[in-house]
Amino acid sequence: MNKLLVAAAVLTLAACNRGAEDSNQILAEANATGNEVNARATNEILQSDATPLEKQQALALMKERHEGYEKIGKAMRAAKKAIDAGDAAGARAPADQLAQLAPQAIGWFPAGTGPDVGKTEARSEIWSQRTDFDAGMKNFQSAALAFQQAAQGGDLNAIKAAHADLGKTCKSCHDRFRAED
Ligand code: HEC
Repeated sequence: MNKLLVAAAVLTLAACNRGAEDSNQILAEANATGNEVNARATNEILQSDATPLEKQQALALMKERHEGYEKIGKAMRAAKKAIDAGDAAGARAPADQLAQLAPQAIGWFPAGTGPDVGKTEARSEIWSQRTDFDAGMKNFQSAALAFQQAAQGGDLNAIKAAHADLGKTCKSCHDRFRAED
């Protein structure tokens, strides 16, 4: 695009969005620095696409959240399998993984990733009762750390108890904030 066309495009956008005062200023700037105006025109165009872009980012994040929870579920099952087999050492790797994933989960729920945006089991109460939801996340993190510690200790009964405590933090959050069929 040459400078004149860019200036014309900016003028058209400015006339629609801001009125004559701004368009005079933009015209002055256009005469002064062609490059700056070029950047400005690009910004205007990107901004007009912001909503679908945001939606795409939200959907990507919801997919990441789904995958993260799948890993959490898988690690919980692997730990249970080891515990049921009396294999205290076998609980160690899944416990490490849970302790690593638990602090990440709180970042999986930014505003704009709820049921109004895409298919999800996340209930809208997550955002309207955020303090309670965050408290549930904190309990989950502490229980995951306690489970990791127990697994390192190697006492099967302690591991079993810590695994059960951790499982309760999943359930209490799901009961309230996850819409299951
Ligand atoms: C503080 C709240 C909270 C805690 C704690 C929590 N979850 Fe969840 N979990 C959710 C929400 C909300 C969803 C729905 C996410 C979605 O559909 O976008 C979910 C979804 C899931 C899913 C389904 C993933 C999918 O999209 O198919 C699994 C599996 C899961 N959680 C396992 C667990 C396990 C296991 C624990 C504990 C070790 C746990 N969660 C702890 C809130 C929580």
